[in-house]
Amino acid sequence: MKTLIRKNILELKPYSSARDEFKEAASVYLDANEFPVPSDFNRYPDSHHSLLKNAISKIKNVSEKNILIGNGSDEVIDIVLRTFCEPGIDNIIITPPTYGMYEVAAAINDIEVKRCDLEPNFELDFEKLKNQIDANTKVVFLCSPNNPTGKLLDFDAICDFVSQVSCMVLVDEAYIDFSDSRSMITKIDEFDNLIVSQTLSKFYGMAGLRVGLCFANSFLIEIFHKVKPPYNINILSQKIAIEELNSKDWGSSLRQILKDKQNLKAALLQQNCILQVFESDANFYLVKVANANNLYQYLIKKGIVVRNRSNQLHCENCLRITVGTAQENIELINALSEFV
Ligand SMILES: Cc1ncc(COP(=O)(O)O)c(C=O)c1O
Repeated sequence: MKTLIRKNILELKPYSSARDEFKEAASVYLDANEFPVPSDFNRYPDSHHSLLKNAISKIKNVSEKNILIGNGSDEVIDIVLRTFCEPGIDNIIITPPTYGMYEVAAAINDIEVKRCDLEPNFELDFEKLKNQIDANTKVVFLCSPNNPTGKLLDFDAICDFVSQVSCMVLVDEAYIDFSDSRSMITKIDEFDNLIVSQTLSKFYGMAGLRVGLCFANSFLIEIFHKVKPPYNINILSQKIAIEELNSKDWGSSLRQILKDKQNLKAALLQQNCILQVFESDANFYLVKVANANNLYQYLIKKGIVVRNRSNQLHCENCLRITVGTAQENIELINALSEFV
């Protein structure tokens, strides 16, 4: 795995933040050109996110040395690309239809994107994927459960794949908390080419705080730490994320959203305008309709925004609908029932 890391990153002497150089507590801090009048945020945030990592390590049952926190998991994607991929030379592989940011982040970093399309039933052919890997493939992105399909990849199939390839594999588990599948986090000690990303934006309800999670072996986490911007998670996000994680009953929150999800599916299936509701392990449904553009525009007029995924591979006339609150779901269903 070490040989996959770009030479300039391996040799990188990271920015050393003011507080990194002096770790003991002091009474007077004149080292970082901060404004001296005390407030909740006149000091730079902890660049190591120590308290937040501690809270996450307890919830996810992972050692702190295996965790990196990104400004959303979108930042994790970018850090991974910049760590492994030589612009203009290396490539990544994605499995469309899938989350759009892999491609955008690759384009920003001038990294070629190869595609291994999912089958029309949204299954991934791992053999076909393996055959796409070449000498310049540095990272394969797997999304499980996948966005926009909601489909989970088989845990053992991912493990087999990771064990058989020599490039890095990033398993994006942004929606894993809604599924009953094991997380690939449990395999980071076994496979040194495995990176798992998760987020507090979806199940944990903190999209506005921008807290993304990355799990990997400790050597990689140290490298990623060198690459990330020193103060990527602000003081308030770190503080509020810890408070939220520790104060809420996540078990009952999951039960509630799964119940709402089930009710939404039952109601969707009764609508004449909905032709198919795809199975989903996430907090959204991909639905097939007769004319997605028409229905999308109609819902907009009713003040309801869903995601039109019609232009994605195998998603012709498909809308992606997030499970909202019970009241929001009722409003959606009422609007759909009035659609002619
Ligand atoms: C599959 C997937 N990965 C990552 C993200 C980004 O999440 P974050 O808010 O942590 O940046 C999203 C957001 O929609 C997503 O769907």
